[in-house]
Amino acid sequence: MKSLASYLRVIGFMVLAFLLLEFTIDSGEQMAIEKYPIIWGVLAMLLLFAIAVEIISETLKSILYRGLSEEAQAKFLVSEKARKAQQFSGIKQIYKKLVGGKPIEQEGEIVLDHNYDGIRELDNKLPPWWLYGFYITIIFGVIYLLRYHVFDGTKQAKEFEIEMEEARLAVEEYKKTAKGLVDVNTVELLTEASDLAAGKAIFETNCVACHKTDGGGGIGPNLTDEYWILGGGIKNVFNTISEGGRAGKGMVPWKTELSPLERAQVASYVLGFAGTTPAEPKAPEGEIWVNPDDLKDAEELPVETIIDSTSVIDSTSVNITVRD
Ligand code: HEC
Repeated sequence: MKSLASYLRVIGFMVLAFLLLEFTIDSGEQMAIEKYPIIWGVLAMLLLFAIAVEIISETLKSILYRGLSEEAQAKFLVSEKARKAQQFSGIKQIYKKLVGGKPIEQEGEIVLDHNYDGIRELDNKLPPWWLYGFYITIIFGVIYLLRYHVFDGTKQAKEFEIEMEEARLAVEEYKKTAKGLVDVNTVELLTEASDLAAGKAIFETNCVACHKTDGGGGIGPNLTDEYWILGGGIKNVFNTISEGGRAGKGMVPWKTELSPLERAQVASYVLGFAGTTPAEPKAPEGEIWVNPDDLKDAEELPVETIIDSTSVIDSTSVNITVRD
């Protein structure tokens, strides 16, 4: 391979082969070349093949050339020379225009008349590529100035805020449609019959061993009363089911077993036990849980909060009764 053109042909062929392979092979998110390393082998084969074709065609040419008469050889050389001169002429032309330098023969026209120890200076024009780039920056600058400082366009910081706000709304919208995305901050009490039925099924497969079918409690605490060790209300119950109870008590975290939606369903089902009377209720544990949202409302009313020492259930629990 002697000529630049044959190198370019081989490179072009390889790029084409690579792109074709990438586009035609279904490799999902990954690049085909990562997923199927065998493609490296295919590409190597293709490279050898392309080089071989180049070498063969060059050899063929030289054999044919040798077979020509002297006259024909001379003719061939002339035409070959002309062809070479033409090669890439378009690109060369564009390059020349962009650089805009004077050819050496014409440098005499632009040489300045000072001369320091034989060092002289050419008064070249600014290269067009640079000059036009400069003009473009001026135009850009004017437009920018007018847009952002005269007509008060949205600046970056504002744009960022707008985009963040849009994204927040989009996320919120998406969360509404995707129940499965709930977390402890967004979980709401589910009331649809289908969700509660699903919650019941989950409860009966996973939880009855310790909490009993009616929620009356066994190894685990009674879930029907208003006393909660780890807090009542959908958020606390969801959190307890997700993260488990206190260490060593037996309530494991269910977040690996149950999806967020399933945890919300079973939590809603558990809260449905409130006020029911189980067959063998376990004694209350923990304290009466008051929804802080309700408390906030209650604080506005004149309420008398007293600590009722007679209702202490066990030594670990503190009971605060809110009375009207
Ligand atoms: C191996 C027995 C066991 C299983 C199974 C079990 N729990 Fe529990 N659960 C407990 C224990 C023990 C506690 C008390 C944890 C503590 O004291 O920290 C508890 C506490 C709870 C609480 C908090 C009660 C409170 O008073 O704060 C909820 C809610 C609860 N479990 C729901 C569930 C649900 C829903 C399931 C099924 C997905 C389940 N549990 C499965 C043993 C179990």
